[in-house]
Amino acid sequence: MILSGRAGLAGIVGWPVSHSRSPKLHGYWLRHHRVDGAYVPLPIRPEAFAQGLRMLAAFGFRGVNVTLPHKEAALAACDEADDQARRLGAVNTIVMRDGRLEGSNTDAFGFLENLVQGAPAWRARAAPAVVVGAGGAARAVVAALLDAAVPEIRLVNRTRSRAEMVAQELDGPLQIFDWADRTRALSQAGLLVNATSLGMVGQPPLDLDLSDLPRAAVVNDIVYTPLQTPLLAQAAKRGNGVVDGLGMLLHQARPGFEAWFGVEPEVTDELRRFVMSD
Ligand SMILES: NC(=O)c1ccc[n+]([C@@H]2O[C@H](COP(=O)([O-])OP(=O)(O)OC[C@H]3O[C@@H](n4cnc5c(N)ncnc54)[C@H](OP(=O)(O)O)[C@@H]3O)[C@@H](O)[C@H]2O)c1
Repeated sequence: MILSGRAGLAGIVGWPVSHSRSPKLHGYWLRHHRVDGAYVPLPIRPEAFAQGLRMLAAFGFRGVNVTLPHKEAALAACDEADDQARRLGAVNTIVMRDGRLEGSNTDAFGFLENLVQGAPAWRARAAPAVVVGAGGAARAVVAALLDAAVPEIRLVNRTRSRAEMVAQELDGPLQIFDWADRTRALSQAGLLVNATSLGMVGQPPLDLDLSDLPRAAVVNDIVYTPLQTPLLAQAAKRGNGVVDGLGMLLHQARPGFEAWFGVEPEVTDELRRFVMSD
């Protein structure tokens, strides 16, 4: 690690933040590109969040990533926010410049970059996409698919009213399916995305019969612990192309790293192995 008196500083703000893989991820890029800088975990309580951000800017930080539970509060705390952050109501990346806080949201970018890297033959305009989930992550997934011009997005969530809220806020060709009808939503789809927390370590698997899903469809799980979720195992077994969720985390981090440290980093297999190692 290079750390001179001119070292650039960035980090991740959350509460708690000890589980975050972002310090490891950015630490890898800093070493790989021999950058004079550091990226550190910054546990900040919700009540101290806005003031904490201002102090980091005053201390000369170049910016931060923002994780749970602060993403919505970060939008309110920033002096300006890009279109995607305003559309999603959440900020995950802040650039600090001359004491000002510039917020952006790179989750949709990370989702789409991962999908395109993992399934290069997938064509957005070719067929409907099914998104399961209606939380913060699902919003970013839906926004990315709308921007990619997917002709129809079928949104399925256990709590229908949350899916309706997403459809209302992200205007586009969205169709809502009841949880009980989720298998029917798969017919003629070209993409299935799990954006719920189901399948994550400690959670039950996503209970979804894939019989109606075309074999040519790509299945993407944004859960990445474990890398191969029960959904991806089931999909791979029947011949669907599968994309795991780790790349979304890695790609969403690229714009922040470039803004803070001036180098455009890459997502490689070596990085994937490093971030998932203990
Ligand atoms: N790869 C990445 O970079 C990345 C980025 C962000 C998030 N994620 C992952 O994405 C997942 C969702 O994150 P989030 O921030 O959107 O969380 P969230 O806002 O809490 O939403 C959770 C979603 O999971 C659904 N859900 C939870 N338990 C369920 C159950 N037992 N049965 C059916 N549905 C259930 C919820 O449905 P209800 O609305 O009915 O409660 C909701 O749609 C997490 O596992 C997170 O780790 C990954």
